[in-house]
Amino acid sequence: MPLSGGNADRATMYRVTARDSDTGANAAAPPDAAARAIPERDVLPTVTMIGGGQLARMTHQASIALGECLRVLAASATDPAAQVSADVVIGSHDDLDDLRRAAAGAVALTFDHEGVPLEHLRALEAEGVAVRPPSAALVFAQDKRAMRVKLSELGLPVPDFADLAGDLGLARGRLVEFGERHGWNIVLKAVRGGYDGRGVWIVDNGPDALAVFDEQFNAGVDLIAEEKVQMRRELSAMIARSPFGQGGAWPVVETVQRRGQCAVVIAPAPELSAETAERAQEMSLRLASELGVVGVMAMELFETTDGELLVNELAMRPHNSGHWTMDGAVTSQFEQHLRAVLDYPLGDTAPRAEVTVMANILGAAQAPEMSMDERTHHLMARMPDARIHLYGKGERPDRKIGHVNIVGKPGEDVAAVRERAERAAHWMSDAEWTDGWDPHS
Ligand SMILES: Nc1ncnc2c1ncn2[C@@H]1O[C@H](COP(=O)(O)OP(=O)(O)O)[C@@H](O)[C@H]1O
Ligand SMILES: [Mg+2]
Repeated sequence: MPLSGGNADRATMYRVTARDSDTGANAAAPPDAAARAIPERDVLPTVTMIGGGQLARMTHQASIALGECLRVLAASATDPAAQVSADVVIGSHDDLDDLRRAAAGAVALTFDHEGVPLEHLRALEAEGVAVRPPSAALVFAQDKRAMRVKLSELGLPVPDFADLAGDLGLARGRLVEFGERHGWNIVLKAVRGGYDGRGVWIVDNGPDALAVFDEQFNAGVDLIAEEKVQMRRELSAMIARSPFGQGGAWPVVETVQRRGQCAVVIAPAPELSAETAERAQEMSLRLASELGVVGVMAMELFETTDGELLVNELAMRPHNSGHWTMDGAVTSQFEQHLRAVLDYPLGDTAPRAEVTVMANILGAAQAPEMSMDERTHHLMARMPDARIHLYGKGERPDRKIGHVNIVGKPGEDVAAVRERAERAAHWMSDAEWTDGWDPHS
């Protein structure tokens, strides 16, 4: 609806989103924020996402197609989602009043990260805000110990683990007992706050494990220990669930990690038996239903060398292992998340091709001299079918700044699609063709 003059009633249908400009808190908002008044929606009601990162940015992208503008609570106007949404609340996810401002008038509050304190979410729920997923479910994505305990109770397979909370001496004793039982093939993990491998220490001997434990204990970091799983590979079973109870599962994918961080996703996971894939999907759907999850959820899994599945962790938000769906599935994880939090019917999760490969564009150890603009230009010229997704983030070593999806052609084998996706992503990161190609030769 255009902002046409002469209709006084119209004015009431527009909401200026720089709501905090009078307090000065929104000083970073563009000067024309007031001019970017947003018409009241007549399609979807407002959804607020806490966090202004790439997941919110891509959820906003999906919301546009549905006639919607995602409202985001972002730390700064330069956050990836704040750059693109016209409905930005600048504030902190740690501040209850900021959360309240972001939630005001929205039908649902959801997340692009796990960082919001649970007590704030409980307070919002008590005030009638529809927190999706609800705090009672989200705790199991925030707290790796609570998740391990709950999944064990529910009979879901998890790696053997030990709780290292409490008294230093007793916890050290439990660590030594656990370490010796597993030949010191163990992993130490921060219970909260870890991501992309930060907060995970893979060790193979007692002195190293105790050194990590002591250091983290002194820094106030709560840890668990886990057996180091002998695995064939890592998988992810991504699903969505709506409050109505509808569930949908995408094909189970293989995730390839480098330096503790997801680098590549192959959809569907190659050579995964239909029986194992179904088991993974059922585990994920059943768990979401038991926990009352709303929205999308990724269940990260280890496929052991014996062919067993063990649950590694849960993410109750769009997830890196679902980025392939943007180009490789009928419904993307971002649109599905919106549908689920709005309690709308879910979209078709069928893949569009026999194989789709996603490769993350990570900041290089040393940012190349060639600009990102020029790299994009070259990639477009050489690989016209590469689907490029950039997040509007600066380059820093190993930082996720974008991803590339390659949707396989009929009959194209997985290795060839993967090679193309990784070649494209490496080019975008490093300005270097892994196959030695030189446009000038
Ligand atoms: N118990 C384990 N055994 C073997 N490898 C593990 C184990 N736990 C984690 N890892 C490796 O570390 C990565 C990151 O661990 P994860 O618990 O998923 O933390 P994050 O929150 O950083 O994703 C996993 O994807 C896997 O590659
Ligand atoms: Mg993980």
